[in-house]
Amino acid sequence: MKVDGRHFRSIWLEADGWSVGAIDQRKLPHEFVVAALTTCDEAADAIRSMLVRGAPLIGAAAAYGMALAMRDDRSEVGIEHAYDMLFATRPTAINLKWALDEMRAMLRRLPPSARLDAAYARAADIAEQDITINEGIAKNGFALLEAFAARKPPGMPVNVLTHCNAGWLATVDWGTATAPIYLAHDRGVGVHVWVDETRPRNQGAALTAWELGHHGVPHTVIPDNTGGHLMQHGLVDLVIVGTDRVAANGDVCNKIGTYLKALAAKDNGVPFYVALPSPTIDFAVTDGVSKIPIEQRGAEEVTHMTGRTADGRIETVRIVPENSPVANYAFDVTPARLVTGLITERGVLKADPSSLATAFPERIAAAAE
Ligand code: MRU
Repeated sequence: MKVDGRHFRSIWLEADGWSVGAIDQRKLPHEFVVAALTTCDEAADAIRSMLVRGAPLIGAAAAYGMALAMRDDRSEVGIEHAYDMLFATRPTAINLKWALDEMRAMLRRLPPSARLDAAYARAADIAEQDITINEGIAKNGFALLEAFAARKPPGMPVNVLTHCNAGWLATVDWGTATAPIYLAHDRGVGVHVWVDETRPRNQGAALTAWELGHHGVPHTVIPDNTGGHLMQHGLVDLVIVGTDRVAANGDVCNKIGTYLKALAAKDNGVPFYVALPSPTIDFAVTDGVSKIPIEQRGAEEVTHMTGRTADGRIETVRIVPENSPVANYAFDVTPARLVTGLITERGVLKADPSSLATAFPERIAAAAE
């Protein structure tokens, strides 16, 4: 999508043909900085430190991390070492495991001499595939938004509430939750987005607002607690969020706070949709609420906030008393019964086991292997 009129992806292969460029998301919205990833260690560190984040982008970054690893060691040991290092970076987004499994299975089948080129080619495929999938999500979600628009008074936009950043920065391009929104906006269907700030890391306020603003999509940033009030007053037509892992039963894991939005949506009769690419489905997990591992992150994300001062300096300040303990669960799980529909590249599905299995039979077969 666009940054100051220029098209960007969140990750790319640099012109040198081997190093990997990525937007440093820790610096946004205050600075636009491009980072160079030159080793598997650096790719792992980029995922761990959230220089890159968002489930599909984590998968693409891990795939490029495996390719970078092959520059140093193309042996079986090298493959396993890179896999383990990248796999240990973040526990919840299943796209990480999906991409690493794809890379490892392909590399194991090849002689060491063929592994470097093949790794770069497959990493590029995974990145391209993400874009193609998100274009599918855009088309399927667009049909939904058009239907909502048809029921609005002339000139009134469709009000979508979203949580965290499931935008193009969280994927290679387009985003998942934002893909239908960008398409609708580009095609002249009026859309306005309520952007949850998404404490503690503020991916909504910092990233979603930044990317929507750069693409010219009308939006309003709201404190996380505001959604329920807006829904009670008819100011939200639908919710669309992304996800880090969808269990085989349709339970949806996403950024902490998503579950509360789903409860508020249910209470107010507001449709609650989840946009996801198929690599985000984990058919090996049959019950999301009890079985999806929930990442717990460092206390400083809760105790501190970073921002730009009036004179332009970036500063981090403490907002919690020195001795108060904090908890920082990064994700929660929304039970399938609260989900109106799953917007996928193969259509808008019911959040239930048979709809997922029927739409993605090849993933069931792969999970059984
Ligand atoms: O901790 P993050 O920023 O990686 O969490 C991101 C989210 O929760 C997104 O909503 C999710 O990955 C979907 S991205 C298309």
